[in-house]
Amino acid sequence: MSFLSTSVRGHINALVQTQDHPFFIYDLDQLAAHLAPLTAQNVVKLWYAVKANPLSSVIQTLDKAGFNFDVASAGELNQVLKQGIAAERVLNTGPAKSKKQINHFLEAGVRTFVAESLNQVAWLNQAAQNHQVQLRILLRVQLRWPEGEKNPLGGNSLTPFGLGTQQWQHLNIADYPQLNFVGLHIFQWGNMLSTDKLAQLWSQMIAPLQALADQLGFALEILDLGGGLGIPYTTAQDPLNWPQLLDALSNIKFESGVNELWMELGRYAVGECGHYVNPVVEQKENFGYHQLITAGGINHILRPAVTNQAFPAQLLRQSNAPAREFLIHGPLCTALDSLGTHQLPADLNENDHVIFSQVGAYGFTESMPYFLCHELAAEYVIENNQVRCVRSCETADYYLR
Ligand SMILES: Cc1ncc(COP(=O)(O)O)c(C=O)c1O
Repeated sequence: MSFLSTSVRGHINALVQTQDHPFFIYDLDQLAAHLAPLTAQNVVKLWYAVKANPLSSVIQTLDKAGFNFDVASAGELNQVLKQGIAAERVLNTGPAKSKKQINHFLEAGVRTFVAESLNQVAWLNQAAQNHQVQLRILLRVQLRWPEGEKNPLGGNSLTPFGLGTQQWQHLNIADYPQLNFVGLHIFQWGNMLSTDKLAQLWSQMIAPLQALADQLGFALEILDLGGGLGIPYTTAQDPLNWPQLLDALSNIKFESGVNELWMELGRYAVGECGHYVNPVVEQKENFGYHQLITAGGINHILRPAVTNQAFPAQLLRQSNAPAREFLIHGPLCTALDSLGTHQLPADLNENDHVIFSQVGAYGFTESMPYFLCHELAAEYVIENNQVRCVRSCETADYYLR
């Protein structure tokens, strides 16, 4: 399995002739082809989790493919609306919905919300009353399994996302006349690559969710399963098979008896379309290890430091030299700035570029670009097989005050 097509490699080869800074490149042609089968079905309604990659042309590609949009902040909402997408196609999830933000969303015309706390319910109702509108509400649930029982999540960790079923039982839905309680939202897993495991996980959640809807006194019309569909980060991993997943989702829809099944996809939707091109500064030998120092690091792709999982890397230049283990380090003055251990050709040198793939999701905007005042990475897209620059590389003068 290769993470980089010959045609994208060709475009990158052409770009590095004129540009010596790190940059991202997103293949929108590949993205459109990947998305087409995702929406060509009537089992699950798909929203795009904008946090994965809020770039305008990425959002536009998702829009053309028939996705709706899940946003978690006013910034994400404004970016979606700026692409000409109607507010009726926007869903708001996220644990930090202040009264101010709720008001902004209602003014913009958003009417569908995932409520994550009792306060959010009350504030949504109040704001809806002020605007004289009805809102569609899903309650976000955090499930736990009793000690000793088979736990589908492998552990009961506490997160700020939603509330447990006991806490939700304090809700009296009759107190909120502006809110139509239509469903439940659950999402507490990530980057899953096994359809069987996902199917098992979802299946075990149905009974407690149905019980909660019954206790609260509303019909469970919509079940939102969030995101969490994984993508491979090593060649040893197999990608998910979409038709198999659809079968599993179809069973869940049937078992739960809901009218609509929803998911908000981030990583699975856009992860594979992105590559990060990183010039090599030097290689050195240290305590018997080969270290590679690169121009960009976690200032541009933070995820390896957060998850301890590297993005797959390869050398841009074709080389016949035998592969050797390299420890790749970015330019920041912290040992956290590690981009992983990779097998790369031994003749790699300071004129080379390393390409990190699968960075279309949680790349550019999930990073720490200001530390040490290096350049902000440029962003390019490939559309109709043409390369276009959507953000030039910026030096630190751009943001320093
Ligand atoms: C509420 C919600 N939905 C969907 C997603 C997207 O998840 P993924 O990228 O795993 O598809 C996220 C990511 O954090 C999320 O918070």
